[in-house]
Amino acid sequence: MDNLDQLRSDLLTSVEEATDLKALDEVRVSALGKKGAISGLMKGLGGMDPEQRKATGQALNLVKNEIAEAIERRKETLADAELDARLAEERIDVSLPVREEPQGSIHPLSQTIDEVVAIFGEMGFTVAEGPDIEVDWYNFGALNIPPEHPARQEHDTFYLPNETEDGQRTVLRTHTSPVQIRTMLKQKPPIRVICPGRTYRCDYDATHSPMFNQVEGLVIDEKTHMGHLKGCLIDFCRAYFGTDDLPVRFRPSYFPFTEPSAEVDIGCTREGGEFKIGHGDDWLEILGSGMVNPAVLENCGIDSTKYQGFAFGVGLERLAMLKYGIPDLRTFYESDLRWLKHYGFAALDVPSMTGGLSR
Ligand code: DAH
Repeated sequence: MDNLDQLRSDLLTSVEEATDLKALDEVRVSALGKKGAISGLMKGLGGMDPEQRKATGQALNLVKNEIAEAIERRKETLADAELDARLAEERIDVSLPVREEPQGSIHPLSQTIDEVVAIFGEMGFTVAEGPDIEVDWYNFGALNIPPEHPARQEHDTFYLPNETEDGQRTVLRTHTSPVQIRTMLKQKPPIRVICPGRTYRCDYDATHSPMFNQVEGLVIDEKTHMGHLKGCLIDFCRAYFGTDDLPVRFRPSYFPFTEPSAEVDIGCTREGGEFKIGHGDDWLEILGSGMVNPAVLENCGIDSTKYQGFAFGVGLERLAMLKYGIPDLRTFYESDLRWLKHYGFAALDVPSMTGGLSR
């Protein structure tokens, strides 16, 4: 019996001292396993007289149960501790910000297109597209720019040697205005589209590149008037430049495809060589606009006694240069990584209606 007491306390100590589930299982095998200490003592019962066997048997069973229970309890404690340790080690902090190591950046021109699309998108415009290689008629004729019209020279057109199957001359489109024609030929009014895209003119200096981008706008329905043109473009300028009270001026102008036509200026200052958009005593021209010339509507099979609307066109590089302080248009296409790093945007800089994106 003394031996059993000793064995009991030894085993209980071993159970408490087992530091992991594996060690605990070894204790279990050494005590309760087939060849374990308690099982060994059980075997000795056979050689005892009945009285002794009964007493010893009961005592052994008590110890056996006690040890089994202690092992169970220890097992739970160890399992909990192991889980806690794993949780602590494998924890991920979902509130951590995205890693700030951009692999690339958004080109300021793409950024500007996204901003312009976001602003007009909020106003209910959809995006329309047309081809870079355009037929002469859509680029000029249908827009009320007849052959020998001076506007054709002003555009410094790249004419292409190949003609269409029906013998029409092809050009690299000199503006996005032909997308107006394509849209009106395809779609019945009401129309409300913007058309961003590449355009081409034989020109090359700090503010001109033979390839550049414009965005065209066209609204046609039964009642749209000059007040809508003004409201729409004032809202656009203020949203794009992120200035609620940006002064916007409409100056009479001439485009063959609009009548009347207006050029749009925004307020700025040019003091001591410093240029700033906003309040000031100077103006900067940023886009062309006007009420769509009835002749253009008729060229597209739209009844000009029933429908009317406005159009506008703006250079996208110019918008980007003004907002982000980029001095030379040619650098947009030089793919200089230092330039791209400096002027580029992070992928998660999402443009919005209120101010596009101000940094
Ligand atoms: N297409 C003109 C250009 O490239 C810009 C323009 C002016 C477009 C007035 C328009 C407009 O739609 O109404 O110079």
